[in-house]
Amino acid sequence: MRFESTKDIPIPKDPLQQIIGQRHAVQIARIAAKQRRNLLLVGPPGIGKSLLAQAISYHLEPPSQEVSVLHNPETPERPLVEVKSREQLAKERRMSQQIQGRAVTPKDVPSFVAERLGFRCRRCGKLSESHERACPACGVDKYAASFGQGVLSEYVQDVKPQNRVHTTRLLDDGREEVVVYERHGEKIRVLDQRALEKLDQLKKKKPRKVLMPFNRQSFVIATGASETELLGDVRHDPYGGHAGVGVQPYLRVVPGSVHEAHEGVLFVDELSALGGIQRFLLTAMQERKYSIVGRNPHSAGASVRVESVPCDFILVAASNINDLPNVLPPLRSRVVGNGYEVLLDTTMPDTEENRDQLCQFVAQEIVKDGKIPHASADAVDALLDESRRRARRVDESENALTLRLRELSGVIRLAGDLACAQGTELISAEQISGAIHRSRNIEEQLREKYGSVWKASAKEFQTHLEERSAQDSRDVG
Ligand SMILES: Nc1ncnc2c1ncn2[C@@H]1O[C@H](COP(=O)(O)OP(=O)(O)OP(=O)(O)O)[C@@H](O)[C@H]1O
Ligand SMILES: [Mg+2]
Repeated sequence: MRFESTKDIPIPKDPLQQIIGQRHAVQIARIAAKQRRNLLLVGPPGIGKSLLAQAISYHLEPPSQEVSVLHNPETPERPLVEVKSREQLAKERRMSQQIQGRAVTPKDVPSFVAERLGFRCRRCGKLSESHERACPACGVDKYAASFGQGVLSEYVQDVKPQNRVHTTRLLDDGREEVVVYERHGEKIRVLDQRALEKLDQLKKKKPRKVLMPFNRQSFVIATGASETELLGDVRHDPYGGHAGVGVQPYLRVVPGSVHEAHEGVLFVDELSALGGIQRFLLTAMQERKYSIVGRNPHSAGASVRVESVPCDFILVAASNINDLPNVLPPLRSRVVGNGYEVLLDTTMPDTEENRDQLCQFVAQEIVKDGKIPHASADAVDALLDESRRRARRVDESENALTLRLRELSGVIRLAGDLACAQGTELISAEQISGAIHRSRNIEEQLREKYGSVWKASAKEFQTHLEERSAQDSRDVG
């Protein structure tokens, strides 16, 4: 061991480098991320299928599109889809900045504008802050306008400063254009004709709901076997979306996992558990868009349909070997047609490089757990022994290390708990042995107690028979 404790072992940042063994699968995962290919990962539980899927999403570019549904005033039940790129968003930002107009100071605007906005004294013409009612120069009430002459000059009317002043100005080419001056704190915003037109355009924009924002997750897990969750839905509205009382249909549209995973990874664990829903997945993969409809026929959402909502995802599906026959052949064909089927390894050769990887694994698991101390070099050595033993016992592989790492990580955690209970600074080899003993599964415990699982069950059966015959003889008696 070239370290004193797992504390000295560096952990790579890249999640793909954190995957132990599975060299072939990691290589393919890199390609899949770069070329956007689908993957079907096959292997027993706890060997890194979910981990691989998640690591792929880490290597993807962040989403470049934002997808919204827009209100369709002609047919509200058919909301429209709008896909916006980052460039478009930047353009809109620039536009809205232009709409903000130029900010100028009160001395840069015509005096009557400064007066009406409350910056200029009507009597002495001095400029001051708009919130000051009394002119600091002559003391007169800036907000009061006097009318008439002579006796009537005493008649004053209270005028509040305006927030906006509309006026026109003459351009060099002789045309006249509208200009709006707006009070903006202690500055004044000048909106010229162009800015006003853009503001108009923006106001005309249809109301919208962003379904998939730019800052969404690139990794989406399709859990459960519900169509609604996978393909989206339109929520019910007791008022049927009537203007004024109900919620407009576009606001009730809910994206499915296939949509949320647009441009990212859609991870389907236990692919065969999706059953018949696999065929929808197949269509979504093929079309790269999938309409969202209300899926409950008794709900007001059933009349709503949003056509062609984008769902261009990378499918990463996982399956156990035994469940493969239940995966739809056309779905597998689509994975292979644009991707890879990968059988994961359950062991790796017992080489120095792989032993180093397993040491990294121990360090990783301890850091990930966060509640247990680091492990001593001896403890890691003991764990390597256990890994060899498991490769031999479970996978009948000699000179190999197990890759059924979830179970091995269970041993590390148990040993860590022992170390915490005993108050040791590091996990020791003894604590690893203790944890291995405690983490035996039921079959192993039966073997230890009865010699074999078969004997244990024969014993159970015999006891059952004895109890039955005792009961029978009591009944006869
Ligand atoms: N190859 C591996 N490299 C690093 N850690 C691993 C690896 N395989 C398993 N692990 C550890 O085991 C845990 C479970 O792994 P993961 O969830 O990827 O297994 P899985 O193959 O998806 O299992 P299941 O079929 O039960 O869903 C991981 O969080 C990690 O701690
Ligand atoms: Mg998993």
